Amino acid sequence: MTETDRLKGLADRLLLEGTLPPEDLRSLLLHHDGQGADYLHGLARQTARKHFGNRIFIRGLVEIGNCCHNDCLYCGIRRSNRHVERYRLDRQTILECCRTGYEMGFRTFVLQGGEDPWMDDERTATLVSCLRQAFPDAAITLSLGEKTVEAYRRFFEAGANRYLLRHETHNPAHYALLHPASMSLDHRLHCLEELKRIGYQTGTGIMVGSPGQTADHLVEDIRFIHDFRPHMIGIGPFIPHHDTPFAHEPAGSVELTLRLISIFRLMHPAALIPATTALASLSPDGRERGILAGANVVMPNLSPLHSRAKYALYDNKASLGAEAAEGLALLDRRLAAIGYRIDKGRGDYDNNRRAGCHTSEDTTGIEAHDLKTDILCIK
Ligand code: 5AD
Repeated sequence: MTETDRLKGLADRLLLEGTLPPEDLRSLLLHHDGQGADYLHGLARQTARKHFGNRIFIRGLVEIGNCCHNDCLYCGIRRSNRHVERYRLDRQTILECCRTGYEMGFRTFVLQGGEDPWMDDERTATLVSCLRQAFPDAAITLSLGEKTVEAYRRFFEAGANRYLLRHETHNPAHYALLHPASMSLDHRLHCLEELKRIGYQTGTGIMVGSPGQTADHLVEDIRFIHDFRPHMIGIGPFIPHHDTPFAHEPAGSVELTLRLISIFRLMHPAALIPATTALASLSPDGRERGILAGANVVMPNLSPLHSRAKYALYDNKASLGAEAAEGLALLDRRLAAIGYRIDKGRGDYDNNRRAGCHTSEDTTGIEAHDLKTDILCIK
């Protein structure tokens, strides 16, 4: 059997069985066989199309503030970074951003921000209630870090539906390398369990190529995500920020990120998997390549233009063009070029999709797997 055939067989088995032994996951991650990778991406793409048709869900991202009491070593808005111009959007501004997005057709708003003690549970719950009242038919996603269980419950009762909290790495030693001693993997995992128990559609994920990450760590992450079964899986490459201790570390690999997206799509056919901003920031066609590897969500930026540059988690973070809410027409054109269309629905996680398949395929669109993927150089 050739190496390519072996990798193809592993991708088929992953789809069929939902997981693989660690050494086979390692092979899928590490073997740089062009044809094997093309096959993996093609199978993941077909799996996504079977469940979601050629539709890509959009989420309007509002970066509500960059004040953060944490000191994660990779992050540009970490507490120790004295060069950040700190900001907080007030409630009215956040509502206006969402109003603008609503009028464009967004039906999911993602509120993301640093862990800001000023933004306490009371203020956050009030913000969520206001948004819930203003946009009864929209989904509200929070991405505000670690909170108490009571706080998570309170935000849920106020109307939040989804929560994003990447675990970043499932390996305790690696977690300790990326985070200050005040943070712990156990606590993060506890938060994730509680979020799910409360009833949130829960998202987790990792940075690919973060300093110190090994293939074995990635295998641990895959196995954790297999067991945890998140509704949303965020996978983006690590990108250094010049004012962090990791300023001189290399960025993660686009190809490895794409392989992980495909692996997660095969393991979780119904999961909501974004083609992340980090992927689009690192490679000009990263968004398209993510979609052609099995992603089905994009998150254009709805934040006020003047605050976008201040929410710099990493250098050269994209927030304009097709990564911007005001660039929706451009995004639509770029998606059309690879045979996809924007879906303006809420795009909730659908348990039924796990078994069945979606039928709203737009037959006038181009079949993505008929496209010459070499144009986009999926490797
Ligand atoms: N490179 C890529 N992603 C990053 N994040 C934070 N800093 C970086 C970076 N330097 C990601 C983390 C976090 C999410 C909000 O942004 O995974 O969970």
